[in-house]
Amino acid sequence: MTASPEQFVLALDQGTTSARAILFDRQGNIRGIAQQEITQHYPQPGWVEHDALEIWQAQLAVARAALRDKGVAAAQIAAVGITNQRETTVLWDRASGQPVHRAIVWQDRRTAGLCDDLRAAGQAERFRQRTGLVLDAYFSGTKLKWLLDHIPGVRARAERGELAFGTIDTWLAWQLSGGRDHVTDPSNASRTLLFDIHRRCWDDELLAVLDIPAALLPRIVDSSGPISVLAAEWLGAEIPLTGIAGDQQAATFGNACLEHGMAKNTYGTGCFLLMNTGEQPMASHHQLLTTVGWQRGGRTTYLLEGSVFMGGATVQWLRDGLGLIASANEIEGLAASVPDNGGVYLVPAHTGLGAPYWDPYARGAIFGMSRGTTRAHLARAALEAIAFQSAEVLQAMAGDAGQPISQLRVDGGAAKNDLLMQFQADLLGVPVVRPQVTETTALGAAYLAGLAVGFWQDEAELGALWQAERRFEPAMPEARRAASFADWRRAVERSRHWARA
Ligand code: G3P
Repeated sequence: MTASPEQFVLALDQGTTSARAILFDRQGNIRGIAQQEITQHYPQPGWVEHDALEIWQAQLAVARAALRDKGVAAAQIAAVGITNQRETTVLWDRASGQPVHRAIVWQDRRTAGLCDDLRAAGQAERFRQRTGLVLDAYFSGTKLKWLLDHIPGVRARAERGELAFGTIDTWLAWQLSGGRDHVTDPSNASRTLLFDIHRRCWDDELLAVLDIPAALLPRIVDSSGPISVLAAEWLGAEIPLTGIAGDQQAATFGNACLEHGMAKNTYGTGCFLLMNTGEQPMASHHQLLTTVGWQRGGRTTYLLEGSVFMGGATVQWLRDGLGLIASANEIEGLAASVPDNGGVYLVPAHTGLGAPYWDPYARGAIFGMSRGTTRAHLARAALEAIAFQSAEVLQAMAGDAGQPISQLRVDGGAAKNDLLMQFQADLLGVPVVRPQVTETTALGAAYLAGLAVGFWQDEAELGALWQAERRFEPAMPEARRAASFADWRRAVERSRHWARA
């Protein structure tokens, strides 16, 4: 008798800078991976766009490559899960499948003025209560309105039901299903400004405020369950699509923050610190977001989130914008070559500031340079900025929770940087714990997909698979910590409101 071939779950992770496909086995180990970068378009200062067709083609290419490279057949894939950069807004023609415009990326600030107008009209509280979000250009709702208002003919086509709106999960699910399924999950829907997180449905009143036709919207499905089926033409066989979650919610799930009070920070393009608040949404009094984590088996888990727009992107900017380093890996050695920041503070507000400031008009700035400043100081200040921003979010979160957070789990590319992790622990005053698998975003999507088909049984099994790789203990004297924070806050204040006309 021949043993049946090993089964895997395939996670499709469509992030801001790249499309990745990762194969996971039953132990949650990575068994195959393929990646392709996505072109970033910056048509005007503060604008960021992606080509949605390029995203789909890249995602398909890496999915095929991950299977091909490991000699894995489609029949060995028990399920597929999608996880995605959130809020990024795609509008396309249902008949032709052609986007009507480039996707407007979450980092894009073009609707800051529209958000100001809505706030001036007294709408902020209504949006906050229903959606858990701050009225900011970050979210999809005003981006979608911009497309409807600025692309000729689009509003009439939308009203005739010819167009479909989606965040990136929806766009990929629609493509993967061969145009059959127009769906999203509550974790992604909760980032649109159009979704009532309490009733867990689209909100007609908010749609009316933003003048968005309901005919554009995808159907809401569970984050884990029988969502759709991949058309056979893509990977060679029909495969169930049984998991969808926004990348930060997926990372929370994949880092096994499955119980109330557990928190993680992902160091990706941005930094996203999320805390599990159980089955009750927790309203923030410190400018954080209340968001849906995941929905499965009739239960909804809510999270509190602090979103920082420039995390690893700060290092990318030092590489691509300034040419200060040749590769992102160089930054740790360069930053460690000086004992401290030499008084230099870099505020990476290149796309405005997210939590807890929510200032779309802040812009990047460097303070405290002297004749002794070197590229090493700038590298160090860039890493420290990532940690300062995350620390401010954690402080806000502890304020909302009414108690200190006892430890922080970390993941994402820059979590591999030991210098950054140690500085993070120093600033927070709490241990920072890095898991064995730092690809928690893809792992979370795989877990959601795998749970739905019995590949894994329950959350207890996932919690038992989680293992720490390293724990960073805080070591900085309190006086030094307080002084650094004071300087950082001074620098932030000076970068604020810069781009307001
Ligand atoms: O909200 C934006 C977030 O989902 C983007 O994540 O990892 O692609 O930077 P990432």
